[in-house]
Amino acid sequence: MPEVPDATAAALLAQPYGVFLVGSRSGEDRNLMTASWGSQCSFEPRLYTVFVETDAHTRRLIDAGGAFSVCLVPPDSEQILTQYTRPAEVAGDKLGDHHFFDAPNTGVPIYEGSVAWFECRVVEAHPVGDHIQYTGEVIAGDVRGGDPAWTIQQLGWEYGG
Ligand SMILES: Cc1cc2nc3c(=O)[nH]c(=O)nc-3n(C[C@H](O)[C@H](O)[C@H](O)COP(=O)(O)O)c2cc1C
Repeated sequence: MPEVPDATAAALLAQPYGVFLVGSRSGEDRNLMTASWGSQCSFEPRLYTVFVETDAHTRRLIDAGGAFSVCLVPPDSEQILTQYTRPAEVAGDKLGDHHFFDAPNTGVPIYEGSVAWFECRVVEAHPVGDHIQYTGEVIAGDVRGGDPAWTIQQLGWEYGG
């Protein structure tokens, strides 16, 4: 990504996105990563898509475990989002001290501080450019708090362009 975004990159960055944690798991290897590229993509069946970098540890875990979670975070979650931006390969066990619980059907980790979360069983995966698109059937979810979910614009960071 260029340091000073060109007009096209700036236009892409002008789209509002959420910012959330994607949970994944293979056996006892659980991970969370900060993400913003995700969207519901079908009502019936109820499907949701995330886009994961090809070299992310999350990619390996979703490939192996066939499931992922999306954990929407409350305002002022900058510290948590910073923690989960680090690659698991560098950071080691990213879940360490942070509180999480296992999703009821697939066991993928859910961040305890989520304002809302859902878990998805992968039904389709394919490469799109430099990301893998995982589409999952949303099989469970819950709203846990009164706070609105945070957006990447409120956070003031960028991913895209
Ligand atoms: C604001 C923000 C949004 C991000 N969105 C995504 C995303 O949608 N997909 C993705 O693969 N990585 C995204 N990343 C990068 C990952 O968080 C980063 O590559 C992380 O190290 C991957 O962790 P893992 O290797 O433990 O899976 C984003 C980073 C930031 C700071």
